[in-house]
Amino acid sequence: MTMLLEARDLTHVYTIRQGLLGRPAPLRALNNVSLSIKRGEILGIVGESGCGKSTLARILLGLEAPTSGTVLLEGRPVGDYPRRERALAVQPVFQDPYGSLNPSMSVEELIALPLHVHGIGSRSERRRRTATMADQVGLPRRALAARPGELSGGQRQRVAIARALVAGPRLVICDEPTSALDVSVQAQILNLLLDLRAEHDVAMLFISHNLSVIEHMADRMMVMYLGRVVETGPTRAIFARPHHPYTTVLRDAVFSPQDDGGVPDLGLRGNFPNAMDVPSGCVFHPRCGFAHQNCSEVEPMLKTHGGDDRACACHYPLTAGP
Ligand SMILES: Nc1ncnc2c1ncn2[C@@H]1O[C@H](COP(=O)(O)OP(=O)(O)OP(=O)(O)O)[C@@H](O)[C@H]1O
Ligand SMILES: [Mg+2]
Repeated sequence: MTMLLEARDLTHVYTIRQGLLGRPAPLRALNNVSLSIKRGEILGIVGESGCGKSTLARILLGLEAPTSGTVLLEGRPVGDYPRRERALAVQPVFQDPYGSLNPSMSVEELIALPLHVHGIGSRSERRRRTATMADQVGLPRRALAARPGELSGGQRQRVAIARALVAGPRLVICDEPTSALDVSVQAQILNLLLDLRAEHDVAMLFISHNLSVIEHMADRMMVMYLGRVVETGPTRAIFARPHHPYTTVLRDAVFSPQDDGGVPDLGLRGNFPNAMDVPSGCVFHPRCGFAHQNCSEVEPMLKTHGGDDRACACHYPLTAGP
C-alpha cells in the first residue's frame, strides 16, 4: 500500500553568517530524517526548541526544498505537485493563527477561501459547506460575520482549523497548534482535532515540544534531538517503556507539575547544544546519564529493537529491565 506521506533521508542545511563580516557557516537543522504516515493516522513529533521540527514541517509541506532527501506525497515527489493540487492534499495549521488569517476578511470568507480558490461547489454550496465546517469546529454562527481581530485566540485557531479542513485534505500538518493558547483552551482544541480526525478520516502530523500533548494525540511518535530522530514507535509502547535515555527524561518531565505550557526544566546536564557545533559521536552524550566512552566517539544509527515497529538511536538502549 502506498503511504500517504513518506520522507526519506531528509537533510537540511542552513547557511548562517555570524555578524556582518562573519564567514558563512553551515547549520545542519535536519540530519537523515525519515518518516511515513498512513491514511488517517496521527504521527506526533516531539523535541526541544531548535531540534528541527518546524524545518521538517515546512519541507513536508513543500514550502522549502530539503538540501537532500525526498518527500513523497501519495507516492509522488511533493515538489512535482502544482501548488494548488498540493494544497488540496495537505494543509497546515500553525501556532499563530493570527499571522495566517487576513485581518480584513470575515470568518466566513476565511473559511471558504480554499473552496473559492479551488473552484469547489456553487456559491450556495460553498456557503453551506462553510457553515457546516464552522459548526464542526464549534464556532457559533454569529462568528461567521466577525473579523479575526474580534475573536479570542482559541476561536481564531478554530477558524484556522476549519479553513484547513474545509476542502477535504488527506493530511493536516499541525505545528504547535495550541502552544500559544491558554491551558484550558488547549485541551478543547486538541480534542476538537481528534474528533475531526475521526469524522473526516484525515491524517495528521502533529508537532509539539510537550510530550503529554503527543501522548494524547498521536498513534505513533518520533522523538527528535538536534535534527535527528532518536526514537520512534507506537506512542503507547514508547510511553510504557522509552528506549532512549532522552525520551525517558522527556517522559519523566511530563509527570512533574508543569502545566503552564512552558518548556519544562528537563534537569539534564548541560544546555541544549549549539546546532552549529554539535557534539561528536552520539549528539546527546554530553547530557546523558548513561554515556560510555564510545558514545562520544561513534554516532549511533537508528536501529529496530525487537521488531515491534520501534527504533532507537542509542548504543545502550533501555530495552532490558524489570
Ligand atoms: N530560516 C532559517 N535560517 C537559518 N537557520 C534556521 C532557519 N530556520 C531555522 N533555523 C535553525 O534551524 C534549527 C532548527 O530550527 P526549527 O525552527 O526547525 O526548530 P523547532 O524544533 O521548530 O524549534 P521551536 O520548538 O523553537 O519551534 C535551529 O537551530 C534554528 O535556529
Ligand atoms: Mg518550531
